[in-house]
Amino acid sequence: MKVFISGNIAQVGLKQLEENHIEITQWQEDRQISADELTEACQDQDALVSVGPNKIDSKFLNACKHLKVIALHSVGFDQVDVEEARKLSIPVGNTPGVLSGATADTAFLLMLAVSRKAFYLHKKIIKGDWQNYEPTPELGIELNGKILGVLGLGKIGLEMAKKCAGAFQMPVIYHNRSRNEDAEQEVDAKYVSFDELLEQSDVISVHTALTEETKDKFSMEAFKKMKPKSIFINTARGGIHNEKDLIQALEEKIIWGAGLDVTNPEPMKKDNPLLNMDNVAVLPHIGSATEETRDAMAKLIAENIIAGLEGEKLPYPIW
Ligand code: DGY
Repeated sequence: MKVFISGNIAQVGLKQLEENHIEITQWQEDRQISADELTEACQDQDALVSVGPNKIDSKFLNACKHLKVIALHSVGFDQVDVEEARKLSIPVGNTPGVLSGATADTAFLLMLAVSRKAFYLHKKIIKGDWQNYEPTPELGIELNGKILGVLGLGKIGLEMAKKCAGAFQMPVIYHNRSRNEDAEQEVDAKYVSFDELLEQSDVISVHTALTEETKDKFSMEAFKKMKPKSIFINTARGGIHNEKDLIQALEEKIIWGAGLDVTNPEPMKKDNPLLNMDNVAVLPHIGSATEETRDAMAKLIAENIIAGLEGEKLPYPIW
């Protein structure tokens, strides 16, 4: 059996595949594989490990109907046409659970970095602009006791809520499509409407999937309902905020700051105005990029591929 892997995954996953006598072909170039190249590369393969944002859409799926399984190197699956995969009986799996801690760490890091303008001040030192000690320049804001609003209180959102409640005694409010009563108990979170989340939060952290419903959910209309001193954090998907509106909201001081691990588009262009704002911190989609988490993701991927090639139910299925 043969698998094509469209990027780098941790050695532990490759080893697991090899031990199961699965022949591996990996994309070797230092750029994202194009849609046509991916289709071409999969023609003589039995399975695909999809690394990165490649669209697993109807066109791809119909051109690669022969695939016995597709394993995503992500928990998010907005890039997949799930209905079409189901219609064509191609099982698709993802990597749930194992990246919740690392992704929440990234959200927490961004929140703290934004609140103290850390990335901007670091850049100032590099530019030689640290002249002397001044008591009142570039003041940050404190997080202690501030209200955390979580959009999407699932596994990752809950990890973020626990960190904020533990470290800064932040009361937690949240908005989901449906209530998460276990999480409510664990962090004493209060369910609110989306408008209440916007109006009451000091920090909003986004942990929901990108869907038709959440696309552009944070547009100017939403930013205008947020507190002028509030911080917006997105480690989920760039499409959930409207980047043009976010830039305007920050420039016009409608909100106070923003921390992004996801942008729209990705990669972010180096002349994006967000990169020069003092109260903004941007990372290049590294939410789950720790050694421990990448190892754990690679193991789940290998398990999905092995099960799929054996015609068994995937252990971590999307459908
Ligand atoms: C995920 O797992 O969805 C991460 O964002 C990587 O794409």
